[in-house]
Amino acid sequence: MRETLEKIKAEALEALSAPSANIEDLRIKYLGKKGELTAVLRGMGKLSAEERPVIGQLANDIRAEIEAKIEAMTAERHAREIEEKLEAERLDVTIPGYKIAQGHFHPLTLVQRQLEEIFLGMGYSIVEGPEVELDYYNFQALNIPKDHPARDTQDTFYITENILLRSQTSPVQARTMEKQKPPIKVLSPGRVYRSDAVDATHSPLFHQVEGLVVDKGITMGDLKGTLEMFAKTMFGEETKIRFRPHHFPFTEPSAEVDVSCFVCGGKGCRLCKGEGWIEILGAGMVHPNVLRMCGIDPEVYSGFAFGMGVERIAMLKYRIDDMRHLYENDVRFLNQF
Ligand code: PHE
Repeated sequence: MRETLEKIKAEALEALSAPSANIEDLRIKYLGKKGELTAVLRGMGKLSAEERPVIGQLANDIRAEIEAKIEAMTAERHAREIEEKLEAERLDVTIPGYKIAQGHFHPLTLVQRQLEEIFLGMGYSIVEGPEVELDYYNFQALNIPKDHPARDTQDTFYITENILLRSQTSPVQARTMEKQKPPIKVLSPGRVYRSDAVDATHSPLFHQVEGLVVDKGITMGDLKGTLEMFAKTMFGEETKIRFRPHHFPFTEPSAEVDVSCFVCGGKGCRLCKGEGWIEILGAGMVHPNVLRMCGIDPEVYSGFAFGMGVERIAMLKYRIDDMRHLYENDVRFLNQF
């Protein structure tokens, strides 16, 4: 019996030592109610009185030893599992984090905001007008009656005979003057539409910013000073401006305004096409007819207005050679801003 017990012990300890051992199965096999050790103990009745306590003691010792081995193996396995898990889920907190791509404003938005900023700084308020506009505001209230040839240069998209997509932001002048009495000092950015074919410098949808100032004693000098301030802030301190006579039906006198080329300083280069000057906007003194139609007495008040294309300013400022880049949303282009 002693040999049987020793044999069970040796077998059990060896089986438990195997790394792949199923510990619970082995516990049942050796120590369970129907286990090998229990079976031996059941046979103890056949032993002599002297032998019984000795074998009993031995059997208990062996049971204790197997139990200890089971406990040790379980602990070891548990420790190994934790270690494996730690290894598998290892986290290196020193690895630099992934950079989350952050969006940013579109170049047109950047320029529009900068324009707003400049004029807000001069005390202007921002106002908006509808893109779907009445013929009355887009043309008639701006001294462009039906059949006026000035309409031809701003051919646009008609919705009905009297409703159209505005071809300029100038209708906001009339809308503002109807609602608000002088002093008026507003800037109005927004989309405008013209039935132009798409090319490097044209788009049927583009953006303008309109400025309007009306008060007592406003002169062309105020217009010049304002535009000079704007040009220097936008294109650099050395920038000069030049007024060329022009015609707009809603301003009198009217001018096209150029800035000295901010690349060559006026000497002539590729950007200014050898001219030394770059046209950037249209402007003039608000026509008395326009003031009158909006209920403002031209004998008491005067004003100036100007309008510029946001795309044009953006293209000059960032040296963009094709307007289509501004609408195609190619990230290789947009990422540069
Ligand atoms: N609305 C004119 C244009 O689109 C520009 C302009 C605005 C001219 C205000 C004079 C005064 O060409």
